[in-house]
Amino acid sequence: MSLHTDYLVIGSGIAGLSAAIKLAQKGTVAVVTKKQKNESNTNYAQGGIAAVFDEGDSFDRHIQDTLQAGAGLCHEDAVRLIVEQGPERVRELFSLGVPFTQKENGRFDLGREGGHHHHRIVHVKDHTGRDVEQALLAAVKSNANITLYEHHVAIELITEHHIFSPQLQPMELHCWGAYVLAVQTNQIDRFLAKATILATGGCGQVYQHTTNPAIATGDGVALSYRAGATIGNMEFMQFHPTSLYHPEANSFLISEAVRGFGGRLITKAGESFMEKYHPMASLAPRDVVARAIDSEMKKSGDPCVYLDITHKSAEEIKSHFPHIYENCMNYKIDITQEPIPVVPAAHYACGGVITDLQARTSIGGLFAAGEVTCTGVHGANRLASNSLLEAVVFAHVASETAVGYVESRRFDFPDIPRWDDSGTFNSEEWVLISHDQMEIKNLMWDYVGIVRSTLRLERALSRIRLIRQEIENFYRRTKITEGLIELRNLATVAQLIIQSALMRKESRGLHYTTDYPKKDDENFLHDTVLQRIDV
Ligand code: FAD
Ligand code: SIN
Repeated sequence: MSLHTDYLVIGSGIAGLSAAIKLAQKGTVAVVTKKQKNESNTNYAQGGIAAVFDEGDSFDRHIQDTLQAGAGLCHEDAVRLIVEQGPERVRELFSLGVPFTQKENGRFDLGREGGHHHHRIVHVKDHTGRDVEQALLAAVKSNANITLYEHHVAIELITEHHIFSPQLQPMELHCWGAYVLAVQTNQIDRFLAKATILATGGCGQVYQHTTNPAIATGDGVALSYRAGATIGNMEFMQFHPTSLYHPEANSFLISEAVRGFGGRLITKAGESFMEKYHPMASLAPRDVVARAIDSEMKKSGDPCVYLDITHKSAEEIKSHFPHIYENCMNYKIDITQEPIPVVPAAHYACGGVITDLQARTSIGGLFAAGEVTCTGVHGANRLASNSLLEAVVFAHVASETAVGYVESRRFDFPDIPRWDDSGTFNSEEWVLISHDQMEIKNLMWDYVGIVRSTLRLERALSRIRLIRQEIENFYRRTKITEGLIELRNLATVAQLIIQSALMRKESRGLHYTTDYPKKDDENFLHDTVLQRIDV
């Protein structure tokens, strides 16, 4: 089947849904999403959205905090863009029905998180993402111009290399949509669009321990890389300092807002330790806190540290953090009475598909927003709660740019071939997929984690090359499934992270290597850029 639409949006988190709602004012929109419509990183966001609302705060202060966290690599123009548009985009979400927590005087209740010198986190108690997702999905449902396809996985972006012979490929690449697998029918269709907006989120699943849900397999980065787009700063993977340490908890996040509310990090012996590492103590930027916890755990041999909020009243704790309180109670941890056992876990990809201030990628007709991108906002380390902000602002920008792109052109779609799966067969070897996935996750956790070294990165690179080769061979012979698509993408993204980490021979922000423990501004005050050269 081949489906024609004005705009194709891949992903139904905050970036994809926000873009779809705006694009629908100008044309037809198809949103494809690989699981149920609400399954996204967005849905799990706790702390909130950073934006300047307090009278004592200012755009310049938010910008300064973001630049400081980013350790010299933020693009100031991109930072300024999200900070200055922030309040307007937050008000739009509010008017769509997101019930942001308000004070008695009707103003937004503003939380505080690591690296922020001011209270500026707009939130819905401790389940902001769920409410944002619900409000956006409700707006999408009532919009006749948007069709949402659940359980549809984008496999490849359609570009010149699907259409022309290698000898005839032009210098400039264009995207005409994507090949998409309908999981329930096993059919692969062409979703053809005048403009495509990539909003596929992050890649936390590349690591053994992650706060991210299963959808976060880096598909957008892998698809774009294979299509020839430029990819940036993949070495900067953010580890959230505090995920719940419990054998059954699956890295459940304990929001940084708990520290913003007065929570202190302590050792098993009850000693507060963050004062030794940073003047902002437990509210230092995430890279500092995650490394400090890693170092304390290595020193003591303990499997976790603790986050203590018991000095606050039980009423206050339950009212501010109902979701965290209930979840911890499920594991028989009463956070009003005892410190919470926590460990760092992979949380956020600061790198991704490079976009400019208009949300354009290096491929014509392909725009991107949200965690899949590298906009220049986060540099070497993202400031807490700047991610939902970046996603909603750049979704707005992407929709404006995509509309301009579509309205300024005539579209003659070339003859786009059907997906060719001749020569493939249904394999019984599905155990290979889960095994390879575990191997990649363990490799990344053990060799490409919070503290790195050249030796470990080189070993990781040679192993991932082998694993990728095996996966590619399997992929070429086998009928495509969702699991196989994700495995192939995870392997690609793992390799991009390792290669980028090897290229950065210094320590900066989230990238720390024992071989080059200092910052080297002379040689490395720039983004790490990768591009496939054989497309
Ligand atoms: P997502 O919300 O992840 O959406 C991606 C979408 O793409 C999903 O619908 C997915 O199914 C779909 N998709 C992926 N691949 C494909 C494919 N091949 N085909 C079709 N569909 C595909 N940030 C903050 O700023 N504040 C917070 O408080 C905060 N808390 C967080 C808490 C947790 C536990 C986590 C995991 C993250 C948190 N973050 C927070 C980060 C933030 O939630 C994400 O960066 C942000 O939601 C990303 O939005 P997105 O729209 O780019 O991607
Ligand atoms: C949190 O609530 O700690 C997550 C905030 C973020 O990732 O920005």
